[in-house]
Parts: sequence; C-alpha cells; structure tokens
Amino acid sequence: MTPPVVVDGERLLWRLDELARLTATPGEGVTREAWSRVDVEARDRVAGWMRDAGLHPIVDPAANLIGRSPGVVGRWFASGSHLDTVVHGGHLDGAYGVVAALEAASALHDAGHTMDHGLLVAAFANEEGARGTAGMTGSYACVGGVSDAALDEVDDEGVTVRDRIAGAGGDPGRIAEARWDPADIDAFVELHIEQGPVLADAEVGIGVVTGITGRQALDLRIAGAANHAGTTPMRLRRDALAAAAEIVLAVEAMPADGAVRVATCGFVDAVPNVRNVVPGLVHLGVEVRDESAAALDAAVARLDALLTEVAARRGVGIDRTWGQRVPPRDVAPAVADGVRRAAAVRGLAHLDLPSGAGHDAQVLADALPMGMIFVPSTSGVSHAPGEHTEPADLVSGAQVLVDTLLDLDARLGRAGLGVAS
Ligand code: GLV
Ligand code: MN
Ligand code: MN
Repeated sequence: MTPPVVVDGERLLWRLDELARLTATPGEGVTREAWSRVDVEARDRVAGWMRDAGLHPIVDPAANLIGRSPGVVGRWFASGSHLDTVVHGGHLDGAYGVVAALEAASALHDAGHTMDHGLLVAAFANEEGARGTAGMTGSYACVGGVSDAALDEVDDEGVTVRDRIAGAGGDPGRIAEARWDPADIDAFVELHIEQGPVLADAEVGIGVVTGITGRQALDLRIAGAANHAGTTPMRLRRDALAAAAEIVLAVEAMPADGAVRVATCGFVDAVPNVRNVVPGLVHLGVEVRDESAAALDAAVARLDALLTEVAARRGVGIDRTWGQRVPPRDVAPAVADGVRRAAAVRGLAHLDLPSGAGHDAQVLADALPMGMIFVPSTSGVSHAPGEHTEPADLVSGAQVLVDTLLDLDARLGRAGLGVAS
C-alpha cells in the first residue's frame, strides 16, 4: 500500500527558491557563509516555516536551528542538513536537506498523520567550514564533540569560532547542552544532492548511500625568501611558490596509484603576490579523502615524507598543521533498507553508492544509526553556481525521505533500530 503522506512539491521548490535569494553574492551563485547575516536570515526564515509545520523551533547553544514536533514523550527520528554554503556555491547543497526535512514535517502535519516517533528537523551550523574554520561545528556539538580548542579556533578574519557562534545567537559557554541524547533518537536520515555524476550518468533518481568518505585537512606555511625577480640568479632562489607548485602536483598525483580516492589543494595565498618579486611565503590548503581510515593514515605519512624532501631540496621551511579529520563512516544497514523499500514502493529506480562529499550525517554516526538519500546532480556539478537537480527529482527525493521515516516508524514502533531491524 502506498504510504498516505504526500509531499507538496510546489511548496518544496518555492522554499528552495526563497532561500536561494538569501546570498551575499547575488547573480554569482549562493554565498551564505556560516554565521553571516544571510545565514542567520535563512535560519530565521526556516524557523518560521517550522512553526507553520507545527514544529517548535529553537536556536541551540551551538547556533543550530532545531525544530521538534510537540508533545512527544517517546522516541525520535531526526532529519536535516545545513543552510550555510561555500563561497559562490549552489542553492541545493545543504538547503535541500533542510527544506525536505521540513517538507516531511509539513506533509505529516497537513495529512494529520502522527508517527510513533517525534520528528526533529535540524539545520546544522557551519557544515562547510566558513572562513577557513574546521567544518561540521553544529553536528559535532550534537554529539558533544566541540572542544574548547575548537571554540578558540581563529578564522581567516581573526574572529574566534566562539565569537562567531555567540554573534549568531548561540551560547558557546553552554555548548555542551547542544548534545543530543542518543538514547532518544532512533535514526538520523539526511537527504542531499549527490554532488557527483554517478546517478545522473546512470539515469537513476534515488541514491541509497552506503558510506560517507573521510577527509583529512592539512594547512601548510611554506617560507622561502622574497627577493628581486630580475637580479636573483635561479640557483640562489628559495621560491616558496615554486615549492608549493611541486607540492600541488604531487598531491594531485596521489590518487593515481590508489593512495587515496581524491586529493586537492584548493587554497593558495602567495606573499607578496607581486609579478617582479620571487615569492617569499605561501599558504597552501590541502585535503585528501578516502573511504578507508587506514588510507588516510598512510596518506598523512606519505605527505609528511614529501614535504620533508621538498623542504630540504629547495631550502624552504614548511610548517605543517594537520587539520580536521572527519572519519569515514558506514550507514546503518537498517536505514538503507528503509530507503530502498521507500523508493520501491513509489516505483523509483535506486542505486547504492558511497558519498564522495562529507556530511553532518557522518558526524552523527558516532552516536546514532544514520542513513542518507541522494538525488542526481546535473553533470555532477556542486560547490559551484551551476549546481542543479531536476525539480521532479527534488520532489521525489523528499517523498522518499518522508516514506523512509514512515517505513521505519511502522517497523520500529516504539522499539529502537537496534532492537527490530
Ligand atoms: C562538504 O561540503 C564537503 O566538502 O564535502
Ligand atoms: Mn558542501
Ligand atoms: Mn552539504
């Protein structure tokens, strides 16, 4: 039998359009960096929609927006994603998962359907890592994983994470209170665009995520010697940018022999950045990703050796700061099975695949059974203004989300996932 709750596709798409307008770079993709004015505006807008859907929204001490269905004494399902974006990003990465979780709440509310489980809708703060910070701040707070050192981290503009959170309506001194009690929550299900080409190439509308990639960040400060570009003989140079270039290419080559799945140097800043000066200093932001924690460990050792060798040969100093490690995580099989059943009931083709991007869901996986649903990204474009998913796929994804929650609710009743899968 088809589940009785139907999402309102027009409302879902309209809400996405409304959020897309909240950007610091109109006409140049969506820029909604965490804790910024537009990010807080988006959060407030979603809080209003939560009230319309019968949820009770609060901004928690980590500046997450959390909307819960009222009057629940039993157990919960949680769903959501993030409202912040990268600079010049798209309108779907994050916002779609929040709006779809909200649409699940709205559809349940409109249908007058009460699950045995309460529904918690979350918009997590700073998933992307705004202004050079470690990301996933909000979801880490929900598992008690934000340390004082993390709050003291200073961003590219010299402001601490602590002050950013306070400025966005959070209360960093009480961040421990943002922690969810895992004993109360049976599953977290996050709907997201795939951000890669797999589903679009296969012409399949629903992705059943099997696991989420791990990520290791590395910040480098390469110190050479600034000098005159016309008079300094090549043999006497200590060119920090040339050293950085060698590192960029070596990092790019790492996946070719299977060391890691992907490797990127996405940030570079050269000083003094003047055509006729040999570059004296370079900051380089590196990251490697893989589904295996052991591969990330091996990559750390390999990068260490590479940097030591380049530094010695080129006579530059390389300070390395190993940044955030978000570990790879498998999804809970019982949640993935729920997604498969939900897609099948609606007659939607589905495909198992791992996530190449990081997600709040993998942080929550430390405490809760977690699963993810993907919809296709046209041409696999994301973290760029061209991010697009066909409206029909967006609506189908939201329907599969609510159907998955209904499926798990019907199977579990008031028992936990661990009890009845
Ligand atoms: C999150 O957007 C990531 O970088 O994977
Ligand atoms: Mn992203
Ligand atoms: Mn995202």
